[in-house]
Amino acid sequence: MTDDLDRIMAVMASAFDPAWGEAWNRRQVDDALTLGNCHYFLISAQGKPIEAGEEAAGFSLSRTGYEEEELLLLAVAPEYRRLGLGRSLLEALKRASSQRGAKRLLLEMRRGNPAERLYSSMGFYQIGERKDYYRLLHGERLDALTFACDID
Ligand SMILES: CC(C)(COP(=O)(O)OP(=O)(O)OC[C@H]1O[C@@H](n2cnc3c(N)ncnc32)[C@H](O)[C@@H]1OP(=O)(O)O)[C@@H](O)C(=O)NCCC(=O)NCCS
Repeated sequence: MTDDLDRIMAVMASAFDPAWGEAWNRRQVDDALTLGNCHYFLISAQGKPIEAGEEAAGFSLSRTGYEEEELLLLAVAPEYRRLGLGRSLLEALKRASSQRGAKRLLLEMRRGNPAERLYSSMGFYQIGERKDYYRLLHGERLDALTFACDID
């Protein structure tokens, strides 16, 4: 687990622009995973589950609720972007969350995140909006958009 936490944090450090304040710190991730209702998936640069000793190129972190699963974080290290890894992580999440009993996936993102294109192409549709929800590094506010995706 510590190895995997290290892998998650390595991707976290490279993937999130500090300007948005979206990255979680090690304690937050560790706490989430200790709760028992959160799940992670690590992907290699070749788009496969990682093997012992291998570095991760991306990860997802999600939280299970009743018949729902919320995507908390999705990240791919910059050097491995636009190779389909983000899509593979979402496909793996759909499969795993379905096995855990989820009938839909939920996520929240800041308005304007280019990840929206990926989410839309994977069947996510907007279900809500929270005005000025995020507070950025220099005090600006940004809306949060909530999306859902039905799982067959
Ligand atoms: C969002 C993120 C996970 C996407 O990872 P990725 O591996 O590059 O995604 P994919 O290669 O699977 O992209 C699949 C499709 O989604 C769309 N897409 C992905 N990133 C995009 C971007 N920055 N701009 C526009 N479209 C994008 C494209 O249609 C892409 O297909 P194409 O490359 O054939 O045009 C990655 O950019 C990232 O880690 N961003 C920073 C963290 C973040 O904002 N996470 C989401 C909120 S928690």
